[in-house]
Order: sequence, then C-alpha cells, then structure tokens
Amino acid sequence: MNSLKQRAISRGVRQFGHPRGIAGRMAGWVMAHRRVLEIGFGPGVAIAELAHRAGRGHIHGIDHSAVMVRRASRRNRAAVRAGRVELVQSSVDRLPRFDEPFDAILTVNSLGFWAEPVNRLRDLRRLLRPGGRIALVTQPRCPGATRDTTARAAQELQDLLTQAGFGQMRVETLELDPPVACVLATNPATAGGDDQPA
Ligand SMILES: C[S@@+](CC[C@H](N)C(=O)[O-])C[C@H]1O[C@@H](n2cnc3c(N)ncnc32)[C@H](O)[C@@H]1O
Repeated sequence: MNSLKQRAISRGVRQFGHPRGIAGRMAGWVMAHRRVLEIGFGPGVAIAELAHRAGRGHIHGIDHSAVMVRRASRRNRAAVRAGRVELVQSSVDRLPRFDEPFDAILTVNSLGFWAEPVNRLRDLRRLLRPGGRIALVTQPRCPGATRDTTARAAQELQDLLTQAGFGQMRVETLELDPPVACVLATNPATAGGDDQPA
C-alpha cells in the first residue's frame, strides 16, 4: 500500500476517533452494531477502531493475505486475546463458516480486487441477518481522481449492490482528497426467506 493511500485511510479512520460531521455519522452507523465482519482489513486499522468502540460487540475480519493477517493481529493483539476480535486468513471467494449472522459487514478499498463482485456480494448478503447492513467504502486510487471519480465509483457500487439483491441504499461522503464514498445498503430478506443461511 503506498504512503499516500495509507495517509488518506489513516485520515479517514482517525475520524472514527473524533466523530463529527459525515465521518461521525459513519462511525455512529458502524459502532451501533454488535456483530460486524470486515472483508479485506489490511493492516487492521479499522478493526482496531471498531474493537475500541464495540463495547460488548464482536468484530470478525477476513483477509486473503497472510502478511496482512499478521500485521492486523499484531495491531489488535489485546482484543484478539480478549476474544473480542477474530481475524482469519481467507478469501472472500471462500468464506469461512460463521455460527451466527452478522448485523453489519464493512469493506474498505477491497472490492475492486474481487473476482465476480456481484456473486461475492450475494454470498455476503447470506451472512447478514434480515435487515442487516453493508458498507462499501471506496477512495479512487487512479491518478487525477476527483469528486466526479468518487461519484462514479459510488454509482458502480450501488449498481453491484442492486444486482446482489440489496436495497435501501444511501451514500455518505468523507471530504478527503479525493473524497471517500461510503455506500450503505440493507439486506431486505425476511426471516425464513430463500436467501438466508440455514
Ligand atoms: C487496498 S487494501 C485495503 C486494506 C484496508 N481495508 C485499508 O483500507 O487499509 C485491500 C485489502 O483487501 C485484501 N483483499 C483483496 N482481495 C481479497 C479477497 N479476494 N479476499 C480477501 N481479502 C482480499 C488485500 O489483501 C488487502 O489487505
């Protein structure tokens, strides 16, 4: 990960520590959930913020990189030991089995690397409880990226989520350079529906 990206992510994630404005609303949204799964956690910065604020909640994370699992595990050593955080090396293509559905799923700058993202989002929807929510966060990485680039990326994410069966979408924006979009959506399936896990 380059240092510019690291700085942008750190700035974004730091907002979780001082919730205000749009960032405050995002932090409030994520922190309101008890059982959260992050896909592609990288160095584990967001995991640490979530764990810090989760109270009695439980944070799970998967990343397919052994290096990232080691780094994130080091960063979150105390919470892992306390059993509040579980980090697993796994690809989103081969999701581990989880005992209970999640209240929320989060992914930051990772979906762009996934093969068949619509299918992967469908799989993730099956891990959510009815009414559970997903947050797809993106900050475009291409040179010269602008507010328009972010808006187009957010629209693409909404299209993917629609194809995967999510509803009630809305977009929150973090005013970084370029802006960060957080696309929030809900799993509309009712309990007992075909798409829910057994
Ligand atoms: C650009 S980094 C973002 C890391 C972190 N979310 C952040 O914002 O700092 C993308 C992360 O997604 C992970 N990743 C990419 N494809 C994945 C996949 N198919 N399954 C699981 N993790 C994946 C990478 O290993 C990497 O840690």
